[in-house]
This record gives sequence, C-alpha cells and structure tokens, in this order.
Amino acid sequence: MKIQKLPGLFGAEVSDIDLKDPLTADDLAELQAAFVEHQILIFHNQQIEPKHQLAFSKHFGPVQKLYAEEHRIPDCPEVVVLSNEQVDGKHIGVVAAGDYWHSDLSPSKTPGLATILYGRILPSQGGDTEFADMFTAYDTLSDAMKERITTLRGIHCISKLRNHRVEVTRPGGTAYYKKQNSIPDECHPLVRTHPVSGRKGLYLSPRFTIGIENMDDAEAQPLLDELFAHQIKPEHVYLHKWQVDDLVMWDNRSVNHRACGGYEMGDIRRIHRTSTLGDVPF
Ligand code: SIN
Repeated sequence: MKIQKLPGLFGAEVSDIDLKDPLTADDLAELQAAFVEHQILIFHNQQIEPKHQLAFSKHFGPVQKLYAEEHRIPDCPEVVVLSNEQVDGKHIGVVAAGDYWHSDLSPSKTPGLATILYGRILPSQGGDTEFADMFTAYDTLSDAMKERITTLRGIHCISKLRNHRVEVTRPGGTAYYKKQNSIPDECHPLVRTHPVSGRKGLYLSPRFTIGIENMDDAEAQPLLDELFAHQIKPEHVYLHKWQVDDLVMWDNRSVNHRACGGYEMGDIRRIHRTSTLGDVPF
C-alpha cells in the first residue's frame, strides 16, 4: 500500500490496495493514522460491493443507518444510495444530499466521524465534491479572532426550514424538513479539538450552524458570516473531480464538505455512502 499526499494542504491518495480484501493489521493502523493526518483519503479503481464498503467503514467507527429505508441497499442497509435516478417514477436514492457546506450530523450530540463515498455512476458534467480544511481555517485566523471565539459555542440545527442561509432543493424536501423542526438543536464549541491529534479546528457550517449560544443575532450573525467566508477561502479548499470506482473518505472532525451539483436531473449520478459516528466535540 502507498499513501501519497496531494499537492495542496490536505488529502492523500492511497494506491496498491484492494478494498475487497480484509486489511492487514499494519495496513489498517497506517490507514487510520493517515486518515487523521491527511483528513481525506482517496482510493481509485476500487471494484467493491456494498458489503465490502460496509466492512471497510467499520474500521472507522460504528456505522450509522441513515436516511429513509427506501434509499438504503436492501441487504446492506447501512449503505445509502445518493442519486438523482428514478425507477417507475420513484427516486431510488437521496436527491441533492449535502448541497451546502457542512460537517456530517453536527446537529447531534455525537456527530459524524468518517463519511465514505463510493462513486458508481457519474454525470457527464458537474457532480464534484468540495472539501475545506478546518485545521488550516482555524490556524489562519487572526489572534484577535481566535481569542474572541475560543469559548463560544455554535447552535446546530438539523432542519433547513429554520436556517435562512439555505434553501430546500430536494423534491418533497419541505415536508421532510418540517418533521425535523421539532428536533432539539445541539451546541458545540466553535473551536473543536481533534480527539486523536489534539489539533484545533473550526467547527461550524452554514448548513447547520444557525446562531451562537448566549449571543444576540445582531452580534452572532455577522460573526458567523465572517467565519463561513473564511472557512472556504480557495486556499483551504480541495475540489474532488470524481472518476467511476473512486472511494473517497473524510474526517468530519476536521473537514467541511459540500456536493457541488451542476448536473441535469436526467444525467445520472449515483454514489454509495456510509458514515460512522464520532464522539462529543470538545
Ligand atoms: C454528502 O454530503 O454526504 C454528499 C456529498 C456528495 O454527494 O458529493
């Protein structure tokens, strides 16, 4: 197995490994360390089935069963289909998942750890995924800003309907998000310490962070806008242009991401997704 850092700030490509095969203890230890260090790992040319993706994902935390049952792979329900494809007038997967910058499941007490996407079918244009490095975003803040936010906690809200920065883009989305309006918000530190490396990173996103605990919106909203703009400065961002059979995984404790869209409804994109649960941010 070879791990080659990408030319930018973060991310690495892993080659000479077949994810169909069980990992050796040495490879697993190396991959787990590389995952924390590089934050995104990219494996090209993987011919795997959902059961292989699930087995691999389990090495990076407890795998979650997410989204509606009809969008999961029947004999492997932890694997969710993200797709714009319709069969008999029904969407076979989640449409427009992750279309605003976010860290997975941040409105939970114990948010997401690893997310693992496997590219099955790609559209003729668009369909990229962007990632932003939250360690560097924190490191490059001014000392005054670091000081200002050091003890602040962001309010994370699951429903798009209570967030003025986002729009509902998924067909049937309004009813879906209405049901989420009653789910309580969660507060997490704006500056999160990575539980393995100890590095500090920004932990907030325009998709989920709607306010700051104990702060009026008159003060909180401009501060959030400033931090959101800083997070996605071009020098903090890696754009992944998918190839079929890419498997891409990232550490939600130090990376924000978004699906870039940019393809037509009939131009099929299908991704198989697994995600694992992390710990309480501190
Ligand atoms: C996600 O946010 O989980 C999906 C990202 C993508 O489909 O590119």
